Amino acid sequence: MDKKSDTMEKVVSLCKRRGFVFQGSEIYGGLAGVFDYGPNGVELLNNLKQLWWKANVYDKENYYGIDSGMFKHPKVWEASGHTSGFSDPLADCRECNTRIRVDKELEAIGVTADEKMSEEEINKLFEENREKISCPKCGQKDFTPARAFNLLVKSNLGDFTSEGGEPVYLPGEACQGIYLNYKNILNSMSPKLPFGMAQIGKAFRNEISPRNFLFRTREMEQADTQFFVKPNENKEAFEKIKQDRFDWYVSIGIKPENLRFTQHKNLVFYAADAWDIEYNFPGGFDELEGIHDRTDYDLTQHMKFSGVDLNYTDPETGEKYIPWILETSVGLGRMFLAVLADAYHEEEMDGNTRTVLKLHPDLAPNRVAVSPLLKNKPELVEKAREVFKLLKAEFGNVAWDDNGNVGKRYRRQDEIGTPSCIVIDFETLGQEKPELADTVTVRDRDTGEQERVAIADLIQRLK
Ligand code: GAP
Repeated sequence: MDKKSDTMEKVVSLCKRRGFVFQGSEIYGGLAGVFDYGPNGVELLNNLKQLWWKANVYDKENYYGIDSGMFKHPKVWEASGHTSGFSDPLADCRECNTRIRVDKELEAIGVTADEKMSEEEINKLFEENREKISCPKCGQKDFTPARAFNLLVKSNLGDFTSEGGEPVYLPGEACQGIYLNYKNILNSMSPKLPFGMAQIGKAFRNEISPRNFLFRTREMEQADTQFFVKPNENKEAFEKIKQDRFDWYVSIGIKPENLRFTQHKNLVFYAADAWDIEYNFPGGFDELEGIHDRTDYDLTQHMKFSGVDLNYTDPETGEKYIPWILETSVGLGRMFLAVLADAYHEEEMDGNTRTVLKLHPDLAPNRVAVSPLLKNKPELVEKAREVFKLLKAEFGNVAWDDNGNVGKRYRRQDEIGTPSCIVIDFETLGQEKPELADTVTVRDRDTGEQERVAIADLIQRLK
């Protein structure tokens, strides 16, 4: 196994061992492409969402946050083009019926292909490279031609489905909720162009080959911003948005050398430009976040299908137009995986190999862990509980850890990424050295160094 896939296995194993991520429906044998977040995972996920929201709503003056309903009128997915054009090219092995994603198989042998190509284009490439692609199950090279397999997940909502009429879908992408609420924001908040909208919302895709843990899942959460600009005033804003998003990843601790931009070669017909921020995942560089110049396509389509005027009227000139939309969209699961892979380290410390997640302190599931040196000494436990309550009232995400000896606790907290561990010992009680009364040991995750800090200074020090 090469070093990179080895890292993926280790991250997956750590996620399960330390309560970050579990396979969905595991006791029933698991459900492919669906994952559940455990106690440490949900903290990291929530921290990511909070930092994202801060950067994209609080730190901006002209961005409006929303949270739209997941069910949407069936016409939405017609207008967006998802019912007709949201598909992956799939082919079946004639020998064992295993289904393959043809664009991904072509990519794997170095042929440029993607899901946006027409059936004709992809089948031409498939035909030309037929001899190089084998069935992953039986090894044969005899496939049906590729055909488009729609990714929308159908659902069932009384009034629509019972009429035998239009099916209701789960969202194929979260951003449609933003387009549907653009007019509500114009009416209720009176923003002036350019302005942005931000949302974190769920999306569902009938991925035929969910893979690489959280990288490609069937249920996901997307964090999206849509920036509304005057037509043809897109270029400068697009460049700024691209750079802002790149810099944000660096600000949450991702190593810049593991990030890069890639421009799309094959644009969807309505897009003016599209870039990915790629991360160097354990499987190599791949898309982390998409940044798209969507022109006026989305609002024009919704105006056409709904019959509602979605023009913006310039309050100064009275000029009317459909704004262009610059989008940023990232899957939270993919972001979570990138953050974990980046933070994962194995290194020597005190003569042992330790696993440590060097997470940015604002992302770590526990801000700090508190322990009594010995758990069978009531006076130590009582004092430690006092410190624990003090810190919990301040930070919230504070762990109480009295399992095993102190060395084991440090190793456990290193694996979770806890930036500091505090131990209450006999010196804290003033029993051995009176001058150290009411001080505690604070151990730093990254250096392993320990220092004595007065309880009265702890909050300030940890901040
Ligand atoms: N609204 C635009 C949109 O949905 P996309 O490129 O299909 O564009 C945006 O998706 C982001 O959502 C991707 O960059 C990726 O981070 C995430 N994403 C897409 N499909 C995913 C999947 N099956 N599993 C996990 N994340 C996914």
